[in-house]
Amino acid sequence: MDFEQVKALDAEHVIGTYSRVPIVLVKGKGARVWDSEGREYLDFLGGLAVCGLGHCHPKVVEAVQKQVAELIHCTNIYYIAPQARLAALLAELTGGMKSFFANSGTEANEGAIKLARKYSKNKHGEYKYEIITCTNSFHGRTLAALAATGQTKHHRGFEPMPEGFVQVPYGDVPAVAEAIGEKTCAVMVEPIQGEGGVNLPPAGYLSGLRQLCDEKGLVLILDEIQTGIGRTGRMFAYEHSGVKPDILTLAKALGGGIPIGAFLATPEVAGAFGPGSHGSTFGGNPVATAAALANLQAIVDEGAVENAARVGAYFRSQLQGLASRFDFVREVRGQGLMVGIELSIEGKDMVEACRRKGLLINCTAEKVLRFLPPLNISTEDVDEAVAVLREVFEEVKATQAATG
Ligand SMILES: Cc1ncc(COP(=O)(O)O)c(C=O)c1O
Repeated sequence: MDFEQVKALDAEHVIGTYSRVPIVLVKGKGARVWDSEGREYLDFLGGLAVCGLGHCHPKVVEAVQKQVAELIHCTNIYYIAPQARLAALLAELTGGMKSFFANSGTEANEGAIKLARKYSKNKHGEYKYEIITCTNSFHGRTLAALAATGQTKHHRGFEPMPEGFVQVPYGDVPAVAEAIGEKTCAVMVEPIQGEGGVNLPPAGYLSGLRQLCDEKGLVLILDEIQTGIGRTGRMFAYEHSGVKPDILTLAKALGGGIPIGAFLATPEVAGAFGPGSHGSTFGGNPVATAAALANLQAIVDEGAVENAARVGAYFRSQLQGLASRFDFVREVRGQGLMVGIELSIEGKDMVEACRRKGLLINCTAEKVLRFLPPLNISTEDVDEAVAVLREVFEEVKATQAATG
């Protein structure tokens, strides 16, 4: 099928929840993808932080092919070998946390919310259910995760939101302290806000939250659905701060492109759940967990996290050099390979101009160009992306000069 045929079918039959970029991607290898018309792109979006090792990493392909040929599905009523092995590897990487596997990020957060409430009830002997989250946060589209999300534009039309969530400004520990009430059971934040605009909190934020949660007996939930699995140059973004969460949520890059989410908890907190507390038909499915296991092992074995730290620093320094020459660039920010450029103007036309020149990126929070390339990206690919961006910025500058 060519692009026009896919577009027509989609328009007629798919519920229109996405503003689609006008291409159909049909093939991917490493940091490159190809569309239905044979055009090649350098992919600096990676399926929105999913493709940590790029597209179709051979280890992930091999694991999926092997598992699909052996056993595609098995209910959680029975033990699932790759699920147990994946949980063991995650325990090794997190210092002993236990895992529950879901199918997406929003589901991982739903489970985390339930666990925080249940644990809190056991701990305090009374029902506490309120969770403090942040403005501009993004935690998912199912109803509780949506209520946790601090962006009213996503709530509009779907009210009433489930109760039990309050929002405070991001990066502000005293604001969290002030919001704690009788019914508070947890604080839930992203170590860096992704969808909200690649927003980094001030130094000491996570350790301040950790201290506050310890003092008040609250559960600290870190949503690392976007920041986790090497994205910020450490396996988990919380490692930069030296503090550990009680509950950690993951998805996106965990499965190397196969859908999987997870919430992890310290053994103490995890102990609040027993048989029947939570479940999922597909969560932890053999194919998804075999893919995630191969993906995570390859990320560790190939030093992809260290590469993300090193090449991420190079990428940001190249962008800083570029930024100083264009007055519509407000700030270059990020950590590892989670990078944003805040503009003073809307970014969607620049995203489209980059695409036409063969570079895939996106724009979030209207004015933040977002870059989420594979963790194993090379400096040559970074140079190519920066060159495209330079051309696009020059064109915008020329147009601005011509139109006064
Ligand atoms: C920080 C964060 N949490 C949760 C989600 C929701 O994940 P999913 O789309 O897999 O449900 C996202 C997705 O962008 C995210 O960035």
